[in-house]
Amino acid sequence: MLNLPPLLLSAGQADAPSPLVQSLITQAQSLGIITTTSTNAELALQIRDNALQLDDLTDANGKGVMVDFLSGQSAYRRAKGGGSKEPIAKAVGMKTHQPLKILDATPGLGRDAFVLASLGASVTLVERSPVVYMLLADGLRRLALSEPELAARFTLHHANSPEYMQQQSENSVDAVYLDPMFPHRKKSALVKKEMRLFQVLLGTDTDADQLLPAALHIAAKRVAVKRPNSAPYLAAQKPSMAISSKKHRFDVYINN
Ligand SMILES: C[S@@+](CC[C@H](N)C(=O)[O-])C[C@H]1O[C@@H](n2cnc3c(N)ncnc32)[C@H](O)[C@@H]1O
Repeated sequence: MLNLPPLLLSAGQADAPSPLVQSLITQAQSLGIITTTSTNAELALQIRDNALQLDDLTDANGKGVMVDFLSGQSAYRRAKGGGSKEPIAKAVGMKTHQPLKILDATPGLGRDAFVLASLGASVTLVERSPVVYMLLADGLRRLALSEPELAARFTLHHANSPEYMQQQSENSVDAVYLDPMFPHRKKSALVKKEMRLFQVLLGTDTDADQLLPAALHIAAKRVAVKRPNSAPYLAAQKPSMAISSKKHRFDVYINN
């Protein structure tokens, strides 16, 4: 759950945050989540090149983390990915350019959601971390500037997903996608830098089991859960089937 060390906020001189990011920053400051003066912060939210980024202050060579749909991994997967043959697309039950309604209840940096939206889905993102929510809001703002139609497929909410889903009516989406943080067995030096940063910020999602019953409540067709290959089933509930990829397993719960 939310137990944040204060984040340091700083901006390059040439960068003015967008009005949306500025209003999110003001909210986060009023909640004590970010500060402009902390001397012992491990993480910092920085505005560089008019993009909001989360930096690890303990790693001088680290590049920081931002939501970037327009270049890097997301753009590569969009151009070269396997389309509806991507394991994630199969897991949520997508056929080519089928406009499914999907709820991503653990969106993080939005990479998985972006794959689904690029294949034609409308995706509702429900993120509980205010910092990750801000990064997502800023990434979607930048996406809307260059690809407004694609950006319009996303809806973003700041909420705790089980509570949010319990308030929705039964069968209100086709599928729910879940990818909660999972504790890593390897020592932190081996865990990717970005993952480490997220673990400092968020810890592990120890309450992840609560997501499954709430997701089964609103999914008309299925719930797909991304797990490391060695991980036990979410909520100890056996799935209807599993789809394996090199790094992960998708446990699929068919709901009908
Ligand atoms: C492993 S990351 C997801 C990564 C994501 N699939 C991607 O492609 O970038 C998990 C995210 O889920 C969020 N999360 C975990 N439990 C949640 C809950 N109950 N409600 C909303 N968000 C949650 C965490 O804050 C974190 O940002």
